[in-house]
Amino acid sequence: MKALLLAGGTGSRLRPFTHTGAKQLLPIANRPVLFYALEALAAAGITETGIVVGAHEQEIRRAAGDGSAFGLRLTYLYQDRPLGLAHAVHIARDFLGDDDFVLYLGDNYLSEGVTAFVDRARQQTASARLLLTRVADPSAFGVAELDDADGTVLNLEEKPEHPRSDLALVGVYAFTPDIHEAVRAITPSARGELEITHAVQWMIDRGLTVRAETTTAPWRDTGSVDDMLEANRHVLDRLAGGIEGKVDADSVVRGRVLVAEGAVVRGSRITGPVIIGAGTVVTDSSIGPYTAVAEDCSIEDSAIAHSVLLPGARIAGAPRIEDSLIGRGATVVSGPRLSRSHRLVVGDHSKVHLTS
Ligand code: G1P
Repeated sequence: MKALLLAGGTGSRLRPFTHTGAKQLLPIANRPVLFYALEALAAAGITETGIVVGAHEQEIRRAAGDGSAFGLRLTYLYQDRPLGLAHAVHIARDFLGDDDFVLYLGDNYLSEGVTAFVDRARQQTASARLLLTRVADPSAFGVAELDDADGTVLNLEEKPEHPRSDLALVGVYAFTPDIHEAVRAITPSARGELEITHAVQWMIDRGLTVRAETTTAPWRDTGSVDDMLEANRHVLDRLAGGIEGKVDADSVVRGRVLVAEGAVVRGSRITGPVIIGAGTVVTDSSIGPYTAVAEDCSIEDSAIAHSVLLPGARIAGAPRIEDSLIGRGATVVSGPRLSRSHRLVVGDHSKVHLTS
């Protein structure tokens, strides 16, 4: 069994972050989303993994390397334009050969990993095996309709306006080489992509065996800021705390908090779960709960909760920041006390929510 891990795509819902970096490298609890996928594949006993990359290839190569740190052997496959998941399978044809494989979308976070799913795929061959989960907003996903009697997959639709069920396709699939004929047969969807959903529907229509299983384990497609923050909350809930850096006597630390070696906390209140990366300095501030502060940040005289800070972010004099994703080297500071206006230097496609 091989794996095909997708780490291309434009990530338009995560702009501006995706202007300068890959969405799969945005951090959940200070580690790239992609690393959770690499670990899950290795834990499932997979070694040979093709990783499909696009514009952010170099950055992904720097982060994931040859895969040996994860116990994988990575082969980089370049997709020059994000033409869809089925297109990614198409360009990986030579790498995949005649092997069965797991297709894993690199921005998907699955709390239980893929070991049980991959084991079942190994034991009980099906041309396609799907993983489903119930969601509140099925029209944002691929949606499966199952036969009530025997659970057979009747129909799949990609982001339907009127979903026939609340069963969304999680971004993990298992295929036999039968998929290759299907991806060659389909044509681009209305959004101009070769959809894997359509390829699997093509298999259903031809009577090939398509099985589905439903999971209730927490899962997130981290394609939007809210989903990133939610995945972050989930991982932080399982954080092993530990104070490896310096926390002074004027600070109060409650709950599960990881202060990495080389981080400094002074005169502050940290309410877990919180992770604070190496080289970060927190002064006279309140952090948490559910906040991941990356490396080399500086937070001063501020309060921040339910948020993620990327490396090198700086916050000073901000009375209350919540539900925020703050970029690499970004600065959020209070203006002069008498000024009644907000001064903003905001990059392309950024979002600012002002409350006063
Ligand atoms: C893709 C698939 C969709 C699936 C989703 C899971 O959507 O097309 O069927 O439900 O991943 O993350 P995309 O994220 O490409 O819009």
